[in-house]
Amino acid sequence: MSSTVISDIAQLVTNDPSLGDESPLGLVRDAAVVIEGDRVVWTGESSKAPPTDNRVDAGGRAVVPGFVDSHSHLVFAGDRTEEFNARMSGRPYSAGGIRTTVAATRAASDAELEANLTRHLAEALRQGTTTFETKSGYGLTTADEARALRLAARHTDEVTFLGAHIVAPEYAGDPAAYVDLVTGEMLDACAPHARWIDVFCEEGAFDGDQARAILTAGRAKGLHPRVHANQLTYGPGVRLAVELDAASADHCTHLGDTDVDALASGRTVATLLPGAEFSTRAEWPDARRLLDAGVTVALSTDCNPGSSFTSSVPFCVALAVRDMGMTPDEAVWSATAGGAAALRRTDIGRLTPGAYADLTLLDAPSHVHLAYRPGVPLVAGVWRRGVREV
Ligand code: NIG
Ligand code: FE
Repeated sequence: MSSTVISDIAQLVTNDPSLGDESPLGLVRDAAVVIEGDRVVWTGESSKAPPTDNRVDAGGRAVVPGFVDSHSHLVFAGDRTEEFNARMSGRPYSAGGIRTTVAATRAASDAELEANLTRHLAEALRQGTTTFETKSGYGLTTADEARALRLAARHTDEVTFLGAHIVAPEYAGDPAAYVDLVTGEMLDACAPHARWIDVFCEEGAFDGDQARAILTAGRAKGLHPRVHANQLTYGPGVRLAVELDAASADHCTHLGDTDVDALASGRTVATLLPGAEFSTRAEWPDARRLLDAGVTVALSTDCNPGSSFTSSVPFCVALAVRDMGMTPDEAVWSATAGGAAALRRTDIGRLTPGAYADLTLLDAPSHVHLAYRPGVPLVAGVWRRGVREV
């Protein structure tokens, strides 16, 4: 197996405090990383790097772990430009817009959905994302949900069944019958293609009891819970997520003290999605409050055509620093190691021996530039599983 050293890295984020300056980012200056096959085999100061077959010169720039986007909705067709335009003229965001995308997605061919997914993944990769989770949720029939998951599973292991995104239009008058469908036939058809189960626990979507029934049924079929919680209004989603030991409670915009205490007491990661607040002109989640309480925070894009049509993790990092009280170090940690924690993974989101060789080379001397230079394309190179892709 051939080995490659990436050397002359001005500043390397390893996310392993024992490797670097003992901060959570484990920063190493004048660093090198050695890759063998799909793994990192050595990390340290450039001058101490072992001999390798190949060498790449980082040219005094910074390297961070590839971003882990632990929350996206990429199996969809159509877009919602009109809805966004109207919203920016004052119409509020609601869960109802999801129906527009459901209609377009059902009408699309497999090839169209696949092309759309591939295009968005390429877009994300160019912006430094090397792992992504994605969900169904724009099909809402057994066949359409299973199709979405099958397509997603061609591109990632992190596939989430979100049949409970909203009540399907056909069941508008009988939500209980839709919950029966989601926990019965639809779950049976979808579980083989997914790792996770998610529910949009929100006014206009599913209440706490319905969400509990759906997540519990999913767990009985081997799917692990994650929850869209407390996004638009205050509700029971976050407490339910912690109670069920969900890997993540996502959004966390409207929290009470009991929610923060619950998150601090459990293993559930709070995944913050500032693209959604940006694109819906909503109140920002308070990352500072969560971090000060000792909660593990992840940052992801929520990329979807309705509430957050961005695939850019760097953009989310910049928003989190500017508007959510995070330091640049915390935001970069949350977009890498935090995303990995939200997927209960330790083989990604860090650049330590044994981890996957997923690296993003920045056209900047420091990871701080991700927040300092918002909107600037700073990604100069991306390695995924040891292969240079950008
Ligand atoms: O995470 N909150 C629910 N789902 C998406 C929005 C989906 C849509 O508007 O199409 C979200 O923001
Ligand atoms: Fe979402």
